[in-house]
Amino acid sequence: MDTVVVSIGGSILVPDEDDKDYIVKLAELLNGISEKVRLFIVVGGGRIARYYIRLGRSLGADESYLDDIGIEVTRLNARMLIIALGDSAYHVPAETFDEALSAAKNHKIVIMGGTHPGHTTDAVSAMLGERAGAIRLVNATSVDGVYTADPKKDPDARKLDKITFNELIEICMKVPPGAGPNVVFDPLGAKIVARSGIETSVVQGRDLVELEKAILGKEFLGTVISG
Ligand code: UTP
Repeated sequence: MDTVVVSIGGSILVPDEDDKDYIVKLAELLNGISEKVRLFIVVGGGRIARYYIRLGRSLGADESYLDDIGIEVTRLNARMLIIALGDSAYHVPAETFDEALSAAKNHKIVIMGGTHPGHTTDAVSAMLGERAGAIRLVNATSVDGVYTADPKKDPDARKLDKITFNELIEICMKVPPGAGPNVVFDPLGAKIVARSGIETSVVQGRDLVELEKAILGKEFLGTVISG
């Protein structure tokens, strides 16, 4: 059975827009797909992480401490999906790659949040992809693909259907440092998928039809990053 890592941004899991309905439908979809592929899911922190990071920063915390706060929120979000997935999922967010791989021996789906300060769950997904021998990483996010610029700020931004790993790295390097960045993919994650050649798809994660196609390796609306 092929292995696929799916990175679910907190921005689509818990944006406070019909979150319960979405999480129930997402869990149904993932449970169905887990009959066809071995699934590892990595959940992000979204607006709740950003809120705490902003608040903690205003109170004087250093950036690594804020990263640890972000990691705790990713694990809280991961627990919401674990509840909805029921028995097919490992019952807690795995905290290390070794724990995730061990848990996968007895569970169809294993969920992680963050791991260490200094990167985001995109990098976690990429590293987990390497460790688990994934054929694909699907980044389910709030935008429907990789653009030439931020589509929310630049009206001339164009969506790219297909790009190379090097082009992804170039786009991701333009990001400011610090806890809680908001970009399409984390630069460390981009370097890791590039070094291991893990095909990476970016898809609007609230669109479950396109998300399913992306996970199963079918043609979908979004961006594919490869060789
Ligand atoms: P996310 O992975 O959600 O990052 O982790 P993001 O890009 O800000 O948000 P999405 O993708 O839109 O949901 C939230 C924050 O938690 C910390 C970082 O500060 C990150 O910005 N974090 C997360 C870590 O430090 N290490 C990790 O492994 C994961």
